[in-house]
Amino acid sequence: MIPHYLSSLFSLEGRVAVVTGAARGNGAALAEALLRAGAKVLLVDVLPAELESTHQRFRSDGLESSTLLLDLTELGAAERVHQAVMDAFGACNVLVNNAGITLGGDLLDYSDDAWEQTYRVNLKAPFALARRLTRTMKDTGRGSIINITSLNAELAFPGNPAYVAFKGALKQLTKSLALDLGPFGIRANAIGPGYMRTSMTAKSFADPVMHAHRRDHTALGRWGVPEDLAGAVIFLASDASSYVTGIDLYVDGGWLIKGL
Ligand SMILES: NC(=O)c1ccc[n+]([C@@H]2O[C@H](COP(=O)([O-])OP(=O)(O)OC[C@H]3O[C@@H](n4cnc5c(N)ncnc54)[C@H](O)[C@@H]3O)[C@@H](O)[C@H]2O)c1
Repeated sequence: MIPHYLSSLFSLEGRVAVVTGAARGNGAALAEALLRAGAKVLLVDVLPAELESTHQRFRSDGLESSTLLLDLTELGAAERVHQAVMDAFGACNVLVNNAGITLGGDLLDYSDDAWEQTYRVNLKAPFALARRLTRTMKDTGRGSIINITSLNAELAFPGNPAYVAFKGALKQLTKSLALDLGPFGIRANAIGPGYMRTSMTAKSFADPVMHAHRRDHTALGRWGVPEDLAGAVIFLASDASSYVTGIDLYVDGGWLIKGL
């Protein structure tokens, strides 16, 4: 049996969370972790079929999820998320900005559209959601914002200038939020996944050379799976991290510590 002390420290019973990009991959695993720790979760995504099937999977396990089908780059998206979470659960205590896109391309031909679209999903939407939802969190005197960054918030990889730039910016935005929202009891932290097996990395996972390179660059000698993010998100959403704000928590199998 789990001691009461431990379960209450990590429990999300009575908390409400919003997770963006929750239809599949990392977002679905992050949402599932929060749900299993006791939270009610609004799942936001632009993919109708995946969103519904993930929601149904959760509901059939007795977990309390709700959905909002939405393109986060739409005008007024943050207001719609706020309305949906209030309609479904009447509160919001945790925001996980997970939705993200990666549009690779050679620098000399990199399109304005790819730059702009990456900016709107990976940086502008997290900011707009944080700004809108913290107004609600403020009323309860506490809250937790968790931004999903990347190794690219620290390191540059070739052929993806927008992803590198806006993951770096999201890391810094997290620190800015932590400072501005600290006085209201709202914490803001980042989780930076290493290479996880999802749709986003399907090509490199399937390529034997890239697969081995990414596996061998980690200290743990393996790719990550989305479920590896569960402990980090429960920690940062719960009272277990009550005095933790403004940090970058890398869940990367030790990728960042490796020099040679
Ligand atoms: N997979 C990895 O190795 C890895 C590593 C580091 C960081 N990340 C980050 O993790 C997050 C999730 O990525 P993933 O690997 O699960 O990829 P994914 O493509 O499987 O998931 C991204 C989700 O975001 C949703 N989304 C994208 N644009 C949206 C929009 N405009 N409105 C609403 N929803 C939108 C997608 O529909 C999808 O469900 C991203 O922020 C990504 O940058 C992934």
